[in-house]
Amino acid sequence: MCGIVGYIGNKKACPILIAGLSRLEYRGYDSAGISTIEKNDLSIMKDKGRVKNLSNLEGIDNLEGTIGIAHTRWATHGKPCKENSHPHQDNSKTFSIVHNGIIENYNELRTFLTEKGYTFYSETDTEVIPNLIHYYYSKDSQNDDLKFLRAVKNTCADLKGSFAIEAISKLYPNNMIVVRKDSPLVIGTCEDEKYLASDIPAILSYTKDFYLLDDLEFVVLTRNSAKFYNQDLEEITKDTQTIEWNMSSAEKDGFDDFMLKEINEQPTAIRETIGARISLNSKCQFDELSFTKDYLSSINKIYIVACGTAMHAGLSCKNAIEKLCKIPVEVDIASEFRYRSPIIDEKTLCIFISQSGETADTIAALKLSKESGAKTLAISNVIGSSITREADYSIYTHAGPEIAVASTKAYTSQVVLLNILAIYFAEILEVCDENLIINLKQNILELPKKVEEALKCTDIIKDFAKQIYLEKDMFFLGRGIDETVAREGSLKMKEISYIHSESYAAGELKHGPIALIENGITVISILTDENLVKKTISNIQEVITRGAKTLVITNQNIDKTMFDLVINLPKTSSFVSPILSIIPLQLLSYYISKEKGLDVDKPRNLAKSVTVE
Ligand code: F6R
Repeated sequence: MCGIVGYIGNKKACPILIAGLSRLEYRGYDSAGISTIEKNDLSIMKDKGRVKNLSNLEGIDNLEGTIGIAHTRWATHGKPCKENSHPHQDNSKTFSIVHNGIIENYNELRTFLTEKGYTFYSETDTEVIPNLIHYYYSKDSQNDDLKFLRAVKNTCADLKGSFAIEAISKLYPNNMIVVRKDSPLVIGTCEDEKYLASDIPAILSYTKDFYLLDDLEFVVLTRNSAKFYNQDLEEITKDTQTIEWNMSSAEKDGFDDFMLKEINEQPTAIRETIGARISLNSKCQFDELSFTKDYLSSINKIYIVACGTAMHAGLSCKNAIEKLCKIPVEVDIASEFRYRSPIIDEKTLCIFISQSGETADTIAALKLSKESGAKTLAISNVIGSSITREADYSIYTHAGPEIAVASTKAYTSQVVLLNILAIYFAEILEVCDENLIINLKQNILELPKKVEEALKCTDIIKDFAKQIYLEKDMFFLGRGIDETVAREGSLKMKEISYIHSESYAAGELKHGPIALIENGITVISILTDENLVKKTISNIQEVITRGAKTLVITNQNIDKTMFDLVINLPKTSSFVSPILSIIPLQLLSYYISKEKGLDVDKPRNLAKSVTVE
């Protein structure tokens, strides 16, 4: 999705803005641009394509300005082209702005402004914003310090939808105005400099101290101050938060790609996520949570709501919560949940999972649940992200920044955290056999070592990828918890290898999909539940008879001779088995993508943080 960077300080803004945009490239984009204030005039440079195209534009090296805004655009309204890329200016070229989000009522606003004599040069929704700022600025007869801020505030009052906006003006060479609503934006602060970005890694090399904005808080930045205002333009105070991530966690650290680095970081991410939350001798600890036995006993349903991989993490933990807490759990896709009138009341607990914490559908589903009386709990990887500010309670995975578009370490950390949450609830409720809890705790604590063990299949998987990378179709099979891993493995394969793949509950195969099995097709099966091993093997035999090539991921003692490749994994509790079973599948999609020469970290058409519906 679109990315925003901003700088105001004493250094040349342009190189800082370009470096920030490069760090946001992983979010997905199709054009890039910057605007700086040069000798009391606004300069704009932008182009279709990569940030590299922008940094090669003639004249860009001559920019001297020490205040500037920058943007990578992911087209929503209007095709990717220079005219539609940001920054945008008003007709008089007094104001430059960048915008992330969607202005839903832009047609109305465009008509209004056209009637007032304004002309539009792009197809974007964004272009109404600088012109509205100009409109309100020109109408304002008060000539005080807040005039620019008032114009931005009045503009925002007219906007429906989501936005993160940075605005600069040639009339105010020492000011930048910033505001957000339902769209991410953070402000990094040092003594004489302020840095802005859509997310923390883009500016982590400059500062660890950040202001996290709430919706419709307006900020006036100078080089050495940040003043915050509410919607009535009353000044409010805001504290900085220190972010513990280090810079090397946002760099490749010698790996070819972020995805491979993040796959290999899973032992650490899981260790950090477990932290001090569980031990064998005491009850599970969540300093952020204060659930009581009375409240949890009153709950008659838990919804887990998320999108994509985060939803798969939820699916694989449904069983653990139901078995340990004896509360029914429904797992739903956020974009479906919000439109299907789910039955929610004060006896419902809704858990929302989002690595980025900025996924528009998940945030909307959370708001709906709150309005319907449910308590809401957010699970995110990003401190202070929108979802955590909306929810009644928030807990964090400690996976570190996930840069590759395809989620890997965030998924396994989410599965760990949900299992720990299930234990936390179960210990409060006291409805579960203690041995089951102790066994699960033991297995969770052993996970980092076992993930290291599982990663040893890398070379075998790399070789297998060479044999199958030209395939057009693939199937992923599993039963029970393994079926949830089949879904996630299939999603990884599609998104980074562009191979069409389907996942099925193994027993469903003969009810239709088996018609697609033909000679040479690859079928990948996950086989970790000892009660279901024989059943799944029968299903695999059905595809072998029809000529399929088979890869089996298992922690069971099975006869290997009938399969083309078997990957053996360490044994673990079935509740957390997805954390190990997914590793060969992440590696397989990674190496197939590499064999095909694709851009692993930035697959086509995808964005890291999906901030529009
Ligand atoms: C797939 C992937 C996506 C995300 C989904 C939700 O690899 O990364 O399916 O899981 O877009 O994103 P978050 O977790 O940020 O809400």
